[in-house]
Amino acid sequence: MTKIGYIVGSIGSTSINRQLAEALVKLLPADVEAFEISIKDLPFFSTDLEADFPQVARDFKNQIESADGIIILTPEYNRSIPGVLKNAIEWASRPYGDFSFGGTPVAVIGASPGGIGTAAAQQHLKAVLSHVNAIVMGQPEGFVQVTPGLIENGDVTNEGTKAFLEGYLAAFLGHVARMQKAHA
Ligand code: FNR
Repeated sequence: MTKIGYIVGSIGSTSINRQLAEALVKLLPADVEAFEISIKDLPFFSTDLEADFPQVARDFKNQIESADGIIILTPEYNRSIPGVLKNAIEWASRPYGDFSFGGTPVAVIGASPGGIGTAAAQQHLKAVLSHVNAIVMGQPEGFVQVTPGLIENGDVTNEGTKAFLEGYLAAFLGHVARMQKAHA
């Protein structure tokens, strides 16, 4: 069974990216297991904390490394990624040289009420992920503009958006399978 982890780059309880994550997971095929890799309990990264690497950060790294592939849903804050998400990537990149995302297929998607659907944030996120050796899916890109009613009770209500998300997931699972084959 393929194991897909997902990271929501927002810690807000009413996060639209969390809503998108929940709707997206429901669209995965039955033979795919999805699990959340939470970032909300990670402390602010500091080199002072590295000598006694926090258990919560170890757990975070282990969860990343246990996944066959990871989907990151990022909000866009001030045309970039939220600090909480960057902080999580800092932890995943330490200790020095121990890149938990290294060799892992990763897809990026994001939701915003704004028209560009987190495109600017995703450009930054993809650059950071490439630096930490993730195998980032280039296409399709997932720019989701969340208008009122688009996601209701955990489901995407618009058929066109739903079909797009299904295609996006199929492409990502293909990306994951290619990487598994390459490393077999
Ligand atoms: C935003 N928002 C926003 N939206 C956008 O499309 N581009 C942007 O640059 C920003 N900048 C921004 C900065 C800050 C500090 C906040 C709080 C918000 C709006 C943002 O897309 C909206 O709040 C989403 O609901 C955030 O996603 P979550 O947290 O709901 O998943």
